[in-house]
Amino acid sequence: NIKVASHKISNLCVPPALLWVCDAVKFGQLCSGNPSNSRRTSDGWGQGHYGAGRGGRLHEGLDIKCSDGSTVFAPFDVTLNGKLTVYTDPSKAAINEGINLSGEGLCFKLFYVRPDRTSGRVRKGERIGTMLPMQRVYPGITSHVHVQMCDKSDPTRYF
Ligand SMILES: *[C@@H]1O[C@H](CO)[C@@H](O)[C@H](O)[C@H]1NC(C)=O
Repeated sequence: NIKVASHKISNLCVPPALLWVCDAVKFGQLCSGNPSNSRRTSDGWGQGHYGAGRGGRLHEGLDIKCSDGSTVFAPFDVTLNGKLTVYTDPSKAAINEGINLSGEGLCFKLFYVRPDRTSGRVRKGERIGTMLPMQRVYPGITSHVHVQMCDKSDPTRYF
């Protein structure tokens, strides 16, 4: 009896399978020169982890090391959902670009990246843009891509 069989399969198998899919989402390499997605820890400008202090507010993303001018890659198959501006402050114009992305069920943003394109789909490991010249705005900082989930949740579990 088909009804009974599908009921059994659903009870026994679907919840663990869903958990496995959720846990398995990990970002692939984001930036040339940083194959392990190593993170910005601490420098004269602050710390790179989610929730770090930012002069009265909290850091809403996770900073992944990326030297100025590096190539930025799609961390998995992604859809490009448009360009972003990061700041209103004109003194930060040199790094005031980013991109909104989705893939693997996640919506996230990358800051300080000049996107090659702002719509369409890009395969994992293909280039999506270029790291902007962060040292010009924050001399001595650990240059980095800022990864922020669209819902402002903690992205650390995906790394
Ligand atoms: C990013 O893209 C998502 C999906 O299209 C959209 O819901 C969201 O409003 C966008 N966010 C920004 C800041 O553009």
